[in-house]
Amino acid sequence: MAIFLSCSEKATVSFAKEYAKTLRAGDVVLLNGEMGVGKTVFVKGVAQGMGIKDEILSPTYAYMNDYDGKLYHYDCYRLKNGEQAESLGLTDYFGGKGVCLIEWAENISDVLPEDCKKVTIKKIGTVNREIICE
Ligand SMILES: Nc1ncnc2c1ncn2[C@@H]1O[C@H](COP(=O)(O)OP(=O)(O)O)[C@@H](O)[C@H]1O
Ligand SMILES: [Mg+2]
Repeated sequence: MAIFLSCSEKATVSFAKEYAKTLRAGDVVLLNGEMGVGKTVFVKGVAQGMGIKDEILSPTYAYMNDYDGKLYHYDCYRLKNGEQAESLGLTDYFGGKGVCLIEWAENISDVLPEDCKKVTIKKIGTVNREIICE
């Protein structure tokens, strides 16, 4: 487990860029933390670290954005359950050639792989964040 204290959006992006180096094909990372804490900002950093040039936009309405088959960014906020995720084909990428980063994974907990990595972001004041990687 590693804990990082971030004091700005920039610091979170830099940390996530470094964190990206620890990721391997097939990894599924659960991003935990309340709305607006910085989960999507973290994904931006991971994408930069993986050399992805596209802008990372929140996939809230699309459920998942696919960046060249290298990075799959999920936002499961509006999914009801794992069955819905499965029927939409969203679970097909777990353990595949890319890396999956999932916001609001608790909504599809019944279809997640067993060996997921976890990143938990906690708000400590307006711009300070505690980032816990497990
Ligand atoms: N230390 C920090 N790390 C990440 N984001 C921060 C930080 N401080 C302030 N912010 C702001 O918090 C917001 C996080 O938004 P976002 O990443 O979309 O949240 P989430 O995806 O968790 O709902 C952004 O507006 C960002 O600028
Ligand atoms: Mg988000």
